[in-house]
Amino acid sequence: MMAQNDERIPEVESLLEKMTIDEKIGQLNLLTPGGGVATGSVVSKNVEAKIKAGNVGGLFGVASPEKMKMAQDLAVKETRLQIPLLFGSDVIHGYKTTFPIPLGLSSSWDMELIKKTAQIAAKEATADGINWNFSPMVDIARDPRWGRIAEGAGEDPYLGSAVAKAMVTGYQGDDLTDKETMLACVKHLALYGAVEGGRDYNSVDMSKVKMFNQYLPPYKAAVDAGVASAMSSFNDIDGVPATGNKWLLTDLLRERWGFNGFVVSDYTSLNEMIAHGLGDLQAVSALALKAGLDMDMVGEGFLSTLKKSLEEGKVTEEEITNACRNVLIAKHKLGLFDDPYRYIDSSRPKKDILTKENREVARKAAQRSFVLLKNENNVLPLEKTSNIALVGPLADSRNNMLGTWAPTGDLKNGITILEGFKNVAPKATINYAKGSNILNDKTLAKNINVFGPRVEISKESPEELLNEALTIAKKSEVIVAVVGEATEMSGEAASRTEISIPDTQKKLIKELVATGKPVVLVLMSGRPLTIPEEFNLPVSILQVWHPGVEAGNAVADVVFGDYNPSGKLTATWPRSIGQIPIYHSMKITGRPAPASEEFQKFKSNYLDEKNSPLLPFGYGLSYTTFEYSDIKINKETIQQGESVEVSVALKNTGAYDGEEVVQLYLRDVVRSVTPPSRQLKGFKKVFLKKGETKTVTITLSPEDLKFYNSELEFVAEPGKFEVFVGGNSNATLTKSFVLE
Ligand code: BGC
Repeated sequence: MMAQNDERIPEVESLLEKMTIDEKIGQLNLLTPGGGVATGSVVSKNVEAKIKAGNVGGLFGVASPEKMKMAQDLAVKETRLQIPLLFGSDVIHGYKTTFPIPLGLSSSWDMELIKKTAQIAAKEATADGINWNFSPMVDIARDPRWGRIAEGAGEDPYLGSAVAKAMVTGYQGDDLTDKETMLACVKHLALYGAVEGGRDYNSVDMSKVKMFNQYLPPYKAAVDAGVASAMSSFNDIDGVPATGNKWLLTDLLRERWGFNGFVVSDYTSLNEMIAHGLGDLQAVSALALKAGLDMDMVGEGFLSTLKKSLEEGKVTEEEITNACRNVLIAKHKLGLFDDPYRYIDSSRPKKDILTKENREVARKAAQRSFVLLKNENNVLPLEKTSNIALVGPLADSRNNMLGTWAPTGDLKNGITILEGFKNVAPKATINYAKGSNILNDKTLAKNINVFGPRVEISKESPEELLNEALTIAKKSEVIVAVVGEATEMSGEAASRTEISIPDTQKKLIKELVATGKPVVLVLMSGRPLTIPEEFNLPVSILQVWHPGVEAGNAVADVVFGDYNPSGKLTATWPRSIGQIPIYHSMKITGRPAPASEEFQKFKSNYLDEKNSPLLPFGYGLSYTTFEYSDIKINKETIQQGESVEVSVALKNTGAYDGEEVVQLYLRDVVRSVTPPSRQLKGFKKVFLKKGETKTVTITLSPEDLKFYNSELEFVAEPGKFEVFVGGNSNATLTKSFVLE
């Protein structure tokens, strides 16, 4: 018998005893009725009739609480066993109060803040009837061509695990029957971020050692944090699509990790196994059930074939019952059997959604997600009385503030940068001009604009747009250009082969610089971009991702110095596309590139480019400066099971109070499986007043020294370890210790 949830709840067991096979199969069916937010290419048909027939376990993407109430009425009043429905949704970075895109949020390195955003998302979503969230997305992504890098926490498994835990505990709280918490769903299990060539929905083939050490930890962290559900991914793993992969869904998830929630497929990923080449709908549905899938999203493969498979002996009743039990337990955890309407309370939306307090957290989260990449001549922060030319296609573009995957947010609530500047610096002189389109290619614009206009090509010619900007630029003291990607240039099915700033904006930037005025680039994107050219111009660059509902206010807070930026990159920024994949924990290899980065024949380097990135993982500046010194380690030799404490003195040596993310990297010098050059193993975000010095201590636990060896055992092997502490992954202060 396959490993199963051993949780037994008397109420669920007695219900299972009463259920017919059809009723059990009905619970495994998740539909989306349309009319709400489209998140896939097909919508379910005849949903009402299917609910009444007991053929539906849950719905997602339903437009309003009124509609959820109607659907719940059908389930609990018109079906034989009156089993309530689950209501799911993609609340990826906030519900109506949209927070920065997840890649931005992770750049705050502030787990309390990230948890708070998840708590608010849960409170708002449950006020509107949603009790199951398709988040967190914890896919490690090391290929910025992949558009969905925007939805996760970047490249690193240690940081990714911390974020996964913060989000799961934020959504679920410690009591799922609490009306302000909801089921979380860790996704996309697994390795979806490693799709070939950054092409969405593509294939993944990876060694188990790499998987366990680099890609699986955040999913496991979500499971360890008690996540109630998991979503299988679109890609295959070792040749078997995740949705039908028994090794993944049962051996790893349930047996090895002890997961006891339920597993849902991704949108029609069950049916897509036909295209993958695994057989017809009946065959792939049976495969998925036997692999450990509990719920089928939109595909209706379970609904239409499992009974036949049972009759033909291709699946067992026990397998169907097990899957059904997993779904019913989730409903029980939410308290839906006591009160199917507990999340449908008309008094809540008004008081819980998009409140002033929630917007304040969104503003704070956005400020903290920004990364200062460059501050030429310390131009930033600007005076609030400056004469500013505010230009660029994203400076006054309400449709591009919320970011990708914000289907529950409302574009009209987003504050533009122009509005934010006026709010925060009412005494400044601000002249605005668009300056350029986001891009000029109409076909590309059409591909991007599937959810509505994000790239709007003006009637004026590119020359006219440029001239308007240059005219106001010449009258101003300083130019702020808001440039980069439209929101839907990243996200699902939004991969790019070229990740630079589009040409027409590049031209604008060069012409602005040519005026000789100081130029600040406020850069928006859902991914790391290749910007070597812009970086080498005499400009300042503030990376703001897509900041969410409070975008303009938060950008203005930072530009005018009300908040001193503290974000650090959570994914490496390459110099060129050809360097991808690139990440800080790459292996050393047998023929490492020379430290000088000058090309050497027969070394692991490029003829035409350095190996190092433009901007390393963990990088980010502040308006102040920090000096690291006096690294200490409390033990030079340790035994298995012992911890090590590493401390440094951190001094704020600049002119502003500020926060710094102190990062600790570890290199396992000798071990049985080739080690990464260094790996993040600890961090602390600390606030220092100007002139202040603090001792910052980070503890390395016995777990932090472990890795998965060739037998996939999690072990720490004796030998030397080197520790590096600093403000990014190139940290140089170092000490070492020996594990005996
Ligand atoms: C996405 C998931 C999402 C689902 C439901 C899929 O296309 O991959 O992340 O949760 O749709 O909207």
